[in-house]
This record gives sequence, C-alpha cells and structure tokens, in this order.
Amino acid sequence: MQSIGAIKKRPASTLNPGKVQTPAFVIEEDLLKHNLERLQYVSDMAGCTILLAMKAWATWPLFGMVKKYLSGVEVSSLNEARLGFEEFGQKVHIYSPAYKPEEFHEILKNCSHVIFNSFAQWRQFRRTVKDFSRKNKKNIECGLRINPEMSFGEGEDMYNPCAVDSRLGVRLSEFEKALAEDPKVMDGLSGIHFHIFFERDEQDLEKALYHIEKRFGKYLKQLKWVNFGGGQKITDDNYDVEALIRLIKNFKKKYGVEVHLEPGAAVVWQSGTLVASVLDIIESEDVPYSIAILDISFEAHLTDFMLTPSLNLRVRGAVEGRENKYVYQFGGCSCLAGDRREQLYSFSQKLKVGDRVVFEDGIQYSLVKTTMFNGIQHPDIVLWKKIGKEYAAKRIRKFEYEDFKKRMG
Ligand SMILES: Cc1ncc(COP(=O)(O)O)c(C=O)c1O
Repeated sequence: MQSIGAIKKRPASTLNPGKVQTPAFVIEEDLLKHNLERLQYVSDMAGCTILLAMKAWATWPLFGMVKKYLSGVEVSSLNEARLGFEEFGQKVHIYSPAYKPEEFHEILKNCSHVIFNSFAQWRQFRRTVKDFSRKNKKNIECGLRINPEMSFGEGEDMYNPCAVDSRLGVRLSEFEKALAEDPKVMDGLSGIHFHIFFERDEQDLEKALYHIEKRFGKYLKQLKWVNFGGGQKITDDNYDVEALIRLIKNFKKKYGVEVHLEPGAAVVWQSGTLVASVLDIIESEDVPYSIAILDISFEAHLTDFMLTPSLNLRVRGAVEGRENKYVYQFGGCSCLAGDRREQLYSFSQKLKVGDRVVFEDGIQYSLVKTTMFNGIQHPDIVLWKKIGKEYAAKRIRKFEYEDFKKRMG
C-alpha cells in the first residue's frame, strides 16, 4: 500500500526547446509518467478502473508505456476502437451518440463495453450484441449514458453535455418513461455512464454524485458498474486525490458497483507542449505591439484555442498581457487572416527570428484535432526523454508531403 506521500508534486520540465526541430508536439516522458503514476495510485487505492479517453490524446506509439498504468481505453468511434484494440489491447469501452448498423459488428469485435446514448439505440442493437456474444463466446458488457441534468459549464455549451438541449444521454424523465413502458428494458444493461465535467475537481464530483444518487439512486444497486466519465483534473498538483479515492470507495460500498473513470486531458495534463519557431516579426507604427509569425498554424494545430479563445493558452517565459516590456501577438503561417492568437503576450526580452516559442498544454485535444489546412507542415510528434545521461528529443513521427496528398484525394 502506498502512503499519501506517494502523491508527488509534478517534476519540473527538463525540455530544452533549442534542441527540438520545429514545429513539434513534444511529450515529456518524465511528466507523462508522473501523471500515469498518479492515476495508477488512484485506481490501486480506490479499486477502480481507469481508462484513457483516446479522444483527448491517442499517440499510440506510447501506449506500450501507458498500458502499464491504466486498464484500457475509452473510445468514440470504430476507428478509435480499432486503434485502441490493436495498440492498447486491454479493455476497450465505447460510447458514441449513435452507432451505424454497418459498423456495429466491427465495433463488437474490438470492444469489451458498449455504452448506448438512448433506449432506441439499445433496442435496435441489443439482439445483435446477444447473438455476437453467444457466437463468439465474448462477454460484451452494455451500458446506458444518462444525462443527470446538472451543469458545471460556465456558459460554454461547447463543453457542457448537460446544456438544456443536449443530445447526450438519457434524462431521468425518459429513463422512467422507458421503464414504465417496458419494465425489462434494462435487462442486458450492466452499467450506466455519465460525463458532465470539463477540467473540474473532486468537490464538483461529490456534488454531482449527490445529485445523481438523489435522482437515479434506486436503480444503482441493480447495476454492475457506474462510469463517472472524464473531465476531472486528477493529475493537477492541487487536485485532492485522497478525497477522490474516498468518494469512489464510499460509492462502491454503498451500491455494490464497480467504478470506472475515463480521463483524457488528465493523462497528458502539463506533460507536453507545442514548440514553434519565430519566422518573422512585423512591426507597424500604428499597431501598439509586434506580431511574431510562427511556423505553426493556430487554425490547424491549436484548433480548440481558436474555437474557444477563452481557454487558457500559456506560453513559456511570457505573461498574458502587457506586463513585460516586449509585447507580441502570435500569428500562424497560413494565409487565413484570423490564424492568430488574439491575446497579447509579453516577454522581458525581445524575440528574434529563430527563437523558440513554447505553448504549454499543447497536447490534449490539440494533437488529435490537427488538420493540414493550407498544406502547412504538420508538427512532428516528439518524445523528450533521458537517453544515457542527457535529455534528448526522440522523433516518433514526421509528416511528409505524401500525408498531405493522401488526405486531399
Ligand atoms: C464521454 C467522454 N468521456 C471522457 C471524456 C474525457 O474528458 P477529459 O478529457 O476532459 O477528461 C470526454 C470528453 O469529451 C467524453 O466526452
């Protein structure tokens, strides 16, 4: 048994951006390992299953390392399911807002757990699951996503699965209506799933569990598992991991269920960056800051930050705003006028052509969402690790002209 002392603080980054050829998404092995150890500590101490939500990060060449710590993956499509099964090879839990009949057999081949978004989809596919399980002697567990109708989003419906008109999950009224119409509708469903958080802490989870127990409590004891979804910042230094462990243990004991968690961002939280180089600096008399043009594209490589500019995008060595002497706006190297980060950043030293600019938290939900818009060079994927006595950049993947061409036709 590990003690509370096992919850170590995040080690400092050892990255030397000057040693990285840009543009590059850089994952620091030590920092990723730190997150994984923390997650494994939670699963060991609480006795729960922790899955990597591949939608947040799916750099499969590193799955060999990740699977030493986590029990499997959570996926959202047939392609993710295949990749998870081929490269992670343990439990593959799928949830999708809707499954296509022509893909469903392949999904069953690759998944251990299938979570449905509606009773209609469950009714449509339950027979197929039963027949497939019998024929292939594979016990596939099915579950239903619920919508607990409890929002933690501050006005960002983009990240709020419980927004008033959300399509995600079954509300209590629909749940009870379906049971009233067919008391056997839950037969064959062994779990329920909810996902309602975005970068939240264990206090919000506690509030949510209280709310869910009040609404769905009487059904919980009949289940085998409850999946608490993702969106918890478990690997942040300020997250109270011991409180999370207590919550999970109490819930398990009270209802006699397994608990599953499926963090995405938390797996790579603060363990990677997007490293860019300055290509040019534009100074205009009538613009009260300089514009640094980088060898990345905000549009193509930092999509989430473009879609939701209020998301915090930290730049190493700079502060957001004008506090320091040298003030910059960063622009991407596509020809789209809006391919820029509107917020200003300031440095205590002047930037010059060739300098590196390091975007913190550049991995989660960025690497998986990139495009090859404008034919802009896709950043390499790089692992920063200790090789012998020195830290060095080990390139995992370089993107070539052929990758661009294949996507275009
Ligand atoms: C169903 C589901 N599970 C897990 C996650 C992972 O969430 P996060 O990356 O915030 O931990 C998401 C994210 O959208 C999700 O939709």
